Amino acid sequence: RSDYYRETYRPQFHYSPEKNWMNDPNGMVYYEGEYHLFYQHTPHDTRPDFGRMHWGHAVSKDLVHWDELPPAIPPGEDGAIFSGSAVVDKNNTSGFFNEEGSGLVAIYTNEGNKAQPGKSQVQSIAYSKDQGRTWTKYEGNPVLFPTDTLDFRDPKVFWHDESSMWIMVLAVRDRVEFYSSPNLKEWTFASEFGADIPGIHRGVFECPDVFRIPVDEDPNTMKWILMLSVGDRNGVNPNDPEPPAGGSGMMYFIGNFDGKAFTLDETLESFDSIKWVDYGSDFYAAVTWNGIPNENGRKIWVGWMNNWRYATTLPSEEWRGKTSIPRELQLRTYPEGLRLIQAPISELSQLRKPILSLQDLTIKPGMNVLSDISAAKAEIIAEFEIGTAVEFGFKVRKSSDQETIIGYNISNGELFVDRTKASTIDFHTDFTAKHKAPMKPEHERIQLSIYVDWSSVEVFGNHGKTIISDMIFPELESMGLELYAVGGELKVVSLQINDLVSIWGN
Ligand code: FRU
Repeated sequence: RSDYYRETYRPQFHYSPEKNWMNDPNGMVYYEGEYHLFYQHTPHDTRPDFGRMHWGHAVSKDLVHWDELPPAIPPGEDGAIFSGSAVVDKNNTSGFFNEEGSGLVAIYTNEGNKAQPGKSQVQSIAYSKDQGRTWTKYEGNPVLFPTDTLDFRDPKVFWHDESSMWIMVLAVRDRVEFYSSPNLKEWTFASEFGADIPGIHRGVFECPDVFRIPVDEDPNTMKWILMLSVGDRNGVNPNDPEPPAGGSGMMYFIGNFDGKAFTLDETLESFDSIKWVDYGSDFYAAVTWNGIPNENGRKIWVGWMNNWRYATTLPSEEWRGKTSIPRELQLRTYPEGLRLIQAPISELSQLRKPILSLQDLTIKPGMNVLSDISAAKAEIIAEFEIGTAVEFGFKVRKSSDQETIIGYNISNGELFVDRTKASTIDFHTDFTAKHKAPMKPEHERIQLSIYVDWSSVEVFGNHGKTIISDMIFPELESMGLELYAVGGELKVVSLQINDLVSIWGN
């Protein structure tokens, strides 16, 4: 098994299927001691075969080490199995578990369904009585039909205590719709959201999620967040701008949900007031886990580390597609208002092997205190004090002709990842790019947590407030590291570099 996970570009601490294509993570649910990860998968091809999309499947006890299982839900006469979610039906509301008392129910989109001519996307359900190992499609499928659109997909379902109902949030062209159900089989339309928000209608919406989360870790103050992926295909309003890094991107909205409708806390005047989940090019279709104990506290999600702009052309051979690091979500109060915080899950720390730890160091232009270190993967945690330097940062996966620059530009107030020289192979014109995110120092300091793997970097700026996630395709031998400063001195308050050992036992 571990032989497969040594191929060129194979992620060493991110999940990727042993073989063939994956896109969106689906149906994430915690059940009886296991975290389930399902995902869009074509088990027979390294390219997406949308007509024969399956739900792939992997399980984990710690969200770090994954066991791949056989595909969970295959396509059939009902069409392909597109994205969706899974829930624990604790009280057997569905009636599927009369003997067992409870079990798992998956809610997904059938693409290419023939039940209603001309409306090819419908919602269906399947259930499992054996911890997600085998699934039975409900004989009454589909359970929800569209009225007037072809884009009607990606149901995220959760239990809403106050109304004692299941709630579904669904992507419907360039809006989202909410439905409710007592039993997961009969769904009633409740409301729609998004049509009147300016600037965000360039592509169709995909993979929405809605959940409640504490503000500043105080369980007595809760807010609702609506997450939305906006697609690169099937343009709706081609004059609307693209997400910050182009192609597919993710935004979030803060507000309230009363069991029927989501309402925003603030009026969004224009595209410029949209809040972005990630300023990199490669974080998409992320949704949160259902069923994690202490649901009101811990919220974890994982995204597809990719972008539809070039996803099918990636230069990996045996497999194509991977997940991001699972991230824990928080909502924190800042002078400018509430903002989403994302941090790599704490479970990841079990992979750490310390390489270096420094404190109170001054860096001058031209020096490289990391010249002795080589690392093809690493965790870099650093805090800097703004000094006289105008730009500083790290160069990772460096050789004489390759490097990925993760930097902060003080005069522009911008965090950036420059991958223009990250890879030798040239597989898509839109891949070669520099991605920037506005970010202000906090108390005159910049904090960075950086995760470098064989084919990606994830940069968490200022304790997870500003994120850039980008794929890179350097040669394995490009392992140099540099800490650089330009135009003046830089004070390093602290710097830790760790190796993260491979989750595949290499
Ligand atoms: C998002 C998406 C979903 C769809 C799935 C198909 O990446 O386009 O909207 O359900 O991928 O694989």
